[in-house]
Amino acid sequence: MGVTMLESCSSGGDDDVVGGGGNNNGGGNNGGGNNNNSGYTKSGNNVVISLNHSNFNNLHSNGWFNLYQEKILIIKISSTSYKAFTGSCPHQGTHTAWSYNGSSNEFVCGQHGNSYKTDCSSAGVGGVLKCYESSLNGNSLTVTKS
Ligand code: FES
Repeated sequence: MGVTMLESCSSGGDDDVVGGGGNNNGGGNNGGGNNNNSGYTKSGNNVVISLNHSNFNNLHSNGWFNLYQEKILIIKISSTSYKAFTGSCPHQGTHTAWSYNGSSNEFVCGQHGNSYKTDCSSAGVGGVLKCYESSLNGNSLTVTKS
């Protein structure tokens, strides 16, 4: 049996890519397509993540994950509740320098040190960290990029 959770909201942000840290271990094979090694598949705007794939171990141990290949940030709220966001920083679009502060519920972009709340509505420098809709079905988390 699966449990479904929906989260959604929207706001700005651009997709320029600027260097940065590389703070994740997700993906493999350059993140894309329907390969079996990455732990996720793509179909249109949907990215379907196999939560029990070893590439996502850090999501469970750290409580968050940067799937940088798809520019998706994920927070694990509980075993049945996850929340997804764009991985593109609202400031200048860096997607590889994130860290997460669970006590203040915000992501910090190491590119310029700006922080962004995970409430889908509070603006940081450059705008709101956009939330993506997601749904959980068993061990599959579907994130819809919008
Ligand atoms: S690009 Fe993220 S803080 Fe500037």
